[in-house]
Amino acid sequence: MYKLSGVTKNYHKGRETVAALRGVDLVVEDGEWLAVQGPTGHGKSTLLQILGGLDRPSAGIVEFDGRDLAQLREAEVTNVRARDIGFVFQTFNLIPTLSALENVETALVPLRVSADARRQRATMALEAVGLGDRLPHVPGELSGGQQQRVAIARALVKEPKVLLADEPTGNLDEDTRDEIIGLLETMWRERGLTMVLVTHDSSIARRAQRIGVMKNGRLGFKQSRQGPVVRPAQVQAGPARVPEGTGLEPPDLPSLDELEDSGLPDLEDDGSEPADTVTFD
Ligand SMILES: Nc1ncnc2c1ncn2[C@@H]1O[C@H](COP(=O)(O)OP(=O)(O)OP(=O)(O)O)[C@@H](O)[C@H]1O
Ligand SMILES: [Mg+2]
Repeated sequence: MYKLSGVTKNYHKGRETVAALRGVDLVVEDGEWLAVQGPTGHGKSTLLQILGGLDRPSAGIVEFDGRDLAQLREAEVTNVRARDIGFVFQTFNLIPTLSALENVETALVPLRVSADARRQRATMALEAVGLGDRLPHVPGELSGGQQQRVAIARALVKEPKVLLADEPTGNLDEDTRDEIIGLLETMWRERGLTMVLVTHDSSIARRAQRIGVMKNGRLGFKQSRQGPVVRPAQVQAGPARVPEGTGLEPPDLPSLDELEDSGLPDLEDDGSEPADTVTFD
């Protein structure tokens, strides 16, 4: 699924340069579950953002399904992200004014999915995470664990190839943490996902097939839990034009209709050259 070679990432702050990644080599097999641990500030989130096409490396190759994300035009990366990559974050990143159902639907807005099909798929995704009875509730009316379930439904409703999760249980109590990890594990198994999960929690990391450790921007490996990597059937993915809610939505709070009618750019071909960095404002 992924093949990274010599990936470096430098952040520039004034005259200072922070080397967040220093030559990361990594192969993630189709259907693998990789956990990534490591001390704070050592490059875990940076690695995840580069895997997700949310940021570009300063140097190196980030092959995803045979294509180097680092070389693709921004519109193409956006396409890949919208279609093939689901994100789950520590802070859930739901839109507070939208219901659970609408939050999940936002992931399908950029895809060519009719309103009816969107509603149906979002309903099924919420049922799959055990929230079939909470469709009209806004995030403020849901517990932390329930909000994270909505975020998981939003990440998975488009049937991505990859799920990238950055500390998905960091804001949850222990019981809820176990529930959410159990849910992610079930989804991983049943849906043939490739999963990369960043966590500080060793009890979670141990459940993965392989544990990577980021230290000073370098990636090492700890242990392998079980035998050969499971290679589940490929999931289906529809065509895409623009990204889903990756958690990086602008702070203003659109309605679902506004999202639909917002004149989202046509990203099939904008003729632009690759940018050095991807910026999200
Ligand atoms: N946008 C940015 N601009 C400048 N420096 C950054 C930026 N993002 C990350 N960094 C720096 O890069 C390094 C790695 O950050 P990163 O967020 O990847 O760490 P992390 O391992 O995810 O940490 P944590 O466990 O606290 O989430 C840190 O020194 C951080 O300050
Ligand atoms: Mg982080």
